[in-house]
Amino acid sequence: MRTYLVTGGAGFIGSNYIHYMFRKYGDEIRIINVDKLTYAGNLENLKSIESRGNYTFIKADICDSAAIRRIFQENDIDRVVHFAAESHVDRSIKDPEVFVRTNVLGTLVMLNAAKEAWELPDGTFQEGKKFLHVSTDEVYGSLEDENAYFYETTPYDPHSPYSASKASSDMLVKSYMDTYRFPANITNCSNNYGPYQFPEKLIPLIINNALQGKKLPVYGDGKNVRDWLYVEDHAKGIDMVQEKGRLFETYNIGGHNEKQNIQIIHIILDTLQEMLPEGDPRRELVSENLITYVEDRKGHDRRYAIAPDKIKKEIGWYPETRFEEGIRLTIKWFFEHEEWMKNVTSGDYQKYYEEMYHE
Ligand code: NAD
Ligand code: DAU
Repeated sequence: MRTYLVTGGAGFIGSNYIHYMFRKYGDEIRIINVDKLTYAGNLENLKSIESRGNYTFIKADICDSAAIRRIFQENDIDRVVHFAAESHVDRSIKDPEVFVRTNVLGTLVMLNAAKEAWELPDGTFQEGKKFLHVSTDEVYGSLEDENAYFYETTPYDPHSPYSASKASSDMLVKSYMDTYRFPANITNCSNNYGPYQFPEKLIPLIINNALQGKKLPVYGDGKNVRDWLYVEDHAKGIDMVQEKGRLFETYNIGGHNEKQNIQIIHIILDTLQEMLPEGDPRRELVSENLITYVEDRKGHDRRYAIAPDKIKKEIGWYPETRFEEGIRLTIKWFFEHEEWMKNVTSGDYQKYYEEMYHE
């Protein structure tokens, strides 16, 4: 049975990936989820799979080299899928240090532990072992020309401490592939949205605030462009890259769905109005009057847009979920998981681990 070591599996994309993998492979695989449970890690995301015999959760910091090496020593790991990171740009502007620690040093620890476990005496690696580093399109910087796209060959030009730390982690992975022929891939993906996304990010923040009649903060002129991808399509892309991609290659993953932030906000407001049932008191609260222009993010990248040509051509992946459908699925999920949102915004979800594991 193939064993996956997933880091950061209690976060937004990691938990969606774990759900996707169990839906796809069922009992054919085993998943070990290693997560430090920072403010962004939430075991409630995994409640429906936590009792599976082929799933294990380990609370550990990826910077803790001894703990990570022990996991490799005690388990025959076949695949690493490395999500764990500090992921929010605004936080990185306020406090860059933890971004360098987790994203750069943490990645180095993961690389060293996998290399130590998988390397043979002759310097080659055990057959079939693979490491996938989950990265972001933000490493490529900002597109000023509206006809330009990010390709795998686009030079790195990160602007925020977050994207600089992710760029550094990508470089470390590249250096391990080049120096040791370490069996890895890198994926650089555009903005994700969907279930379990922490409400500090634009889409869940707008949904949550609008439903409560709270202000909807728009940074700057609201015309910055992001390329939005439904999270399940990302999960599928990661799996396809690991199974069908060429080792040592980078693959860009993107939605081909560029929208200005202000457009996103209008789409969410319209969709909420459409989906809220007649007589629901929240219909009165959801309004364009909530839109509030605020000070711009420092160093705010203007536009991101991925050209997912390589992954489409080589692997056959493409974004399956149209934005209109994805946003409805996301809003429906938030309607059905009000308790999740309440627990996240009140911080109660952080008590869940202590209760579950009697700590
Ligand atoms: P997230 O913030 O929701 O989750 C991060 C997870 O990592 C959390 O569960 C957290 O507890 C865990 N973690 C943080 N520091 C850790 C540490 N030191 N040791 C162990 N676990 C730790 O992030 P996300 O949005 O799910 O992003 C996951 C990955 O995907 C990140 O590497 C991010 O850079 C990348 N990415 C995100 C997006 C996006 O739109 N969200 C797009 C492209 C790439
Ligand atoms: O492109 C991939 C990246 O997408 C990932 O690597 C990051 O982990 C992820 O956080 C995301 O980064 P962004 O900075 O693009 O996402 P965020 O949701 O924070 O912001 C999206 C856009 O909306 C951005 O232009 C800033 C703007 N914004 C954001 C917030 C939170 C607002 O206008 N108002 C807000 O309140």
